[in-house]
Amino acid sequence: MVAPVARVLIVEDTPTQAEVARALLRDLGHEIRVAETGAAAVAEALAWRPDAILMDIELPDFSGFEAMRRLRAEGLETAIIVVTAHGSVNHAVEAMREGAVDFILKPFAKARLTVTLQNALEKRALVTELAEVRAQLSRDRFFGFIGASAAMQAVYRTIESVAASRANVFITGESGTGKELAAEAVHKASPRAAKPFVALNCGAIPRDLLESEIFGHVKGAFTGATDTRLGAARIADGGTLFLDEIGEMPLDMQVKLLRFVQTGAFQPVGASKAERVDVRLVSATNRDPWAEVEAGRFREDLYYRLYVVPLEMPPLRDRGADILLIARHFLASFAREERKAFRGFAPEAERALMAYPWPGNVRQLQNVIRNIVVLQDGARVERAMLPPMLLRLGAARGPVERPVFEAPAPVAPAPVTPGPNAGPTREPAPAALPPLSPEPIHVLEPAPPSFEPLAVVERRYIVAALDHTAQDVPRAAALLGINPSTIYRKLQAWKTEDARGAS
Ligand SMILES: Nc1ncnc2c1ncn2[C@@H]1O[C@H](COP(=O)(O)OP(=O)(O)OP(=O)(O)O)[C@@H](O)[C@H]1O
Ligand SMILES: [Mg+2]
Repeated sequence: MVAPVARVLIVEDTPTQAEVARALLRDLGHEIRVAETGAAAVAEALAWRPDAILMDIELPDFSGFEAMRRLRAEGLETAIIVVTAHGSVNHAVEAMREGAVDFILKPFAKARLTVTLQNALEKRALVTELAEVRAQLSRDRFFGFIGASAAMQAVYRTIESVAASRANVFITGESGTGKELAAEAVHKASPRAAKPFVALNCGAIPRDLLESEIFGHVKGAFTGATDTRLGAARIADGGTLFLDEIGEMPLDMQVKLLRFVQTGAFQPVGASKAERVDVRLVSATNRDPWAEVEAGRFREDLYYRLYVVPLEMPPLRDRGADILLIARHFLASFAREERKAFRGFAPEAERALMAYPWPGNVRQLQNVIRNIVVLQDGARVERAMLPPMLLRLGAARGPVERPVFEAPAPVAPAPVTPGPNAGPTREPAPAALPPLSPEPIHVLEPAPPSFEPLAVVERRYIVAALDHTAQDVPRAAALLGINPSTIYRKLQAWKTEDARGAS
């Protein structure tokens, strides 16, 4: 545990005594330096950072105790052994009070010095190791992330251990769990951090432009290509290329990407020569990638090339008290931005935040807090300021109130003027966006909760948000704290499902 060679600073103003100590320690193989005054000891210790100090108490300028105080004030955590010619109890007590690990009397025998020093070094190594382990176990921030839960510690560890390599990383996780943040963290923790991080959302780029977005094109390659344009792969050279929503990539494009992943070479659209770059690929999807392979929508060979290191982002509801850490962080930063006085949450408000299942994950939490800060005033966020939907669904997990799943309301508490399509146009659709003030639900009898499949609830929510926004997908997505492409995808899937059901 202890490095075989330690750096030891001997603080001793009598040269003959310093020489005795030096000779003893040198035999043990340690690196030695000597300081003859208190001032020299402090300067040397701060500059050289020894593992241990043998500190004489009577020094020409100030006492060894004073030197210890100054070192502690500088935050130096070296193991200090106090050496003194007096066998006085007072000295021993003061030495310990000043933070010495041990106390040794002059003249000392070699064996005594050896054991004392060895013990001191081991103790210090343990303390350092413990501090490191603690820091590892309980980090509550990591690059852009906030969160101290065990689930997030595992994420931090994976990112850290993969960052140094070139291995491709594949991030999965529900919408709003921080996949993009994770991709950025992989980049920032890596030796590529000084080079570009280029993010490309495969779901947001029209099919026929995707190839040119990734690989670039030469002038005249197609109608509208008036200039030569660099693609994301070239711009990310030396850095990281983040292919977001990789599940949306059309099959023909997957073939081209596979070739690039295999060889590191690509051909810009319309170019005759291939180019070579050095990029690390990070991909993300909120679908189950293997299910996509099995359904024939994603190439198996490409899957294996990209899915080298899997990184799964846990849903927010599985992160325990991280919900509050993140909520408080957003509250502080939005309050600063909006010049509002909010300082924290009332305990009942925190309980409601903890009880809600957060289907839209961190992004939804972010939207909820932003809406509160924008629309409300006060020093504390009270329970009544939370969106009603959150109180209703959150109550489903609490013991007192009966869950009300029958008519969930859309997420945003913002007072939006209802559009022409707002309101219950479908069955069973919820009414228009509820008012900001919560309708307290007091159901006294402990009735068993009536659950519905999550997919049914999800569909009803999305349909409600669409109705509320006059079928404006980006706005509905913003209300729900998800990506527009998620809604487009769901709509497509429901159409297929409904058609199948009807036939
Ligand atoms: N642990 C976290 N701490 C603080 N902020 C977070 C955390 N996770 C995510 N965020 C923030 O939440 C928002 C959503 O995160 P991000 O865009 O990375 O999610 P995503 O998984 O890529 O979502 P989608 O699937 O919808 O694309 C961002 O504003 C991000 O900064
Ligand atoms: Mg994303």
